[in-house]
Amino acid sequence: MRNRILLIEDDQALSRIMRLQLEHAGYDVTVCQTGTSGVEAARESEPDVILLDIALPDLDGWVVCEQLNKITDAPIVISTAVRSERDVIRDLELGADDYLIKPFKHKELLACVKAVLHRIERTAGSLPGGLDSPVQQDVVTDEIDRLSEGVLLQNRYRINRILSYGDFSVVYLGRDMQFTHRSRLVAIKEMLNTATDPMISRMLRANFERQTNILAALSHPAIPQICDYFEVTNRAYTILEYIEGRDPRVILRETEGFLPEERVVSWAIDICDALHHLHTQRPHLIVHRDVKPQHMLVDLDDKAHLLGFAIARVSQPQEKGTMIGTEGYTPPEQWRGSTDPRVDIYALGATMHHLLSKQDPTLEAPFSFHERPIHTTNATVSRELTEIIDKALEYDINRRLGSVGEMISALLALGY
Ligand SMILES: Nc1ncnc2c1ncn2[C@@H]1O[C@H](COP(=O)(O)OP(=O)(O)OP(=O)(O)O)[C@@H](O)[C@H]1O
Ligand SMILES: [Mg+2]
Repeated sequence: MRNRILLIEDDQALSRIMRLQLEHAGYDVTVCQTGTSGVEAARESEPDVILLDIALPDLDGWVVCEQLNKITDAPIVISTAVRSERDVIRDLELGADDYLIKPFKHKELLACVKAVLHRIERTAGSLPGGLDSPVQQDVVTDEIDRLSEGVLLQNRYRINRILSYGDFSVVYLGRDMQFTHRSRLVAIKEMLNTATDPMISRMLRANFERQTNILAALSHPAIPQICDYFEVTNRAYTILEYIEGRDPRVILRETEGFLPEERVVSWAIDICDALHHLHTQRPHLIVHRDVKPQHMLVDLDDKAHLLGFAIARVSQPQEKGTMIGTEGYTPPEQWRGSTDPRVDIYALGATMHHLLSKQDPTLEAPFSFHERPIHTTNATVSRELTEIIDKALEYDINRRLGSVGEMISALLALGY
């Protein structure tokens, strides 16, 4: 029998994606957007696990948690954007069984659900087993979902190997066979659309089109050029110029001591330049919204490139965007839906802080940069550069550097 999950989440875009991911993993999912309807559904549908967003429009999430505990034994997993130790204790005291910190990855969501199910199944004396168990389904799906070496797409792009797993996709290294006399390498980004619900499927397709349209509008040496896009059954593909380069986190890990400040500044100028291109698009500027080291590639000439455009969007100051980003790098206002271009300045400041201090912000308290200035871990960083990074990391958007143009000027004035 398939396990039933009750998802209480008011962010519709997020709940659609979570539902899709959970259904794909073999669970039955019911979605409620308010605390009241969630409690009602828990009473009626006897879920095996409840995923509860703590910030709901009608009732305080803690009240919902208490009410749920009175009517069901199902484990409750709290999902929240901001998490302090005190909150964790509070959740657990109020009867939550686990928690997920937003934004969480697909794998974290599934791992957490599996872990709580496993715990209750162990307590009940039975271990998961049958063929319909999501645990086994996942393994099978993972095996068949990957394209093997040699597969030819559109009679043109030959798969070589997996380059990387992204947040929403698998990226392969491939070869464009159109050019028979030259080996033209491409990055092939594959997004799987397994939605059975036509509305979710349409939404995923629209998202894919939005991403490809944004990339198609851009032309900049630090942004991979989009060469093609197409769909094959339920898979959407983007073919991108291949950037032979390394993730700066790998370079950081391999560096004894600290990275020289000139090198980090030079990468930051490359990224600023790419962001400037986005922020000066007409008629509407584009905001990247997910600048972080894993969205940079440092090429063989030590030039930095910017990747990861899945959540980039056209800036609409009057309209609220989805509250999505990467904890540690994303500024506070983006969690409230802001699409102001200054969100990218903060994220670049956080990226520079990480690369210079060797402190990964995803492992630190949210928005705590000012409590751990760079020079406390890396005393070699100049006062002038520290000041620029501090200005990029201002919590209050109106006190932050006003534009990437301003940031480039300040970085160039360092004179490296
Ligand atoms: N054009 C490229 N050339 C070389 N490697 C690439 C390229 N595009 C992506 N990659 C590799 O694949 C990884 C994942 O790519 P990316 O971050 O774009 O995918 P995603 O996380 O699924 O989606 P997104 O970040 O757009 O939301 C990158 O970190 C990088 O290692
Ligand atoms: Mg990514």
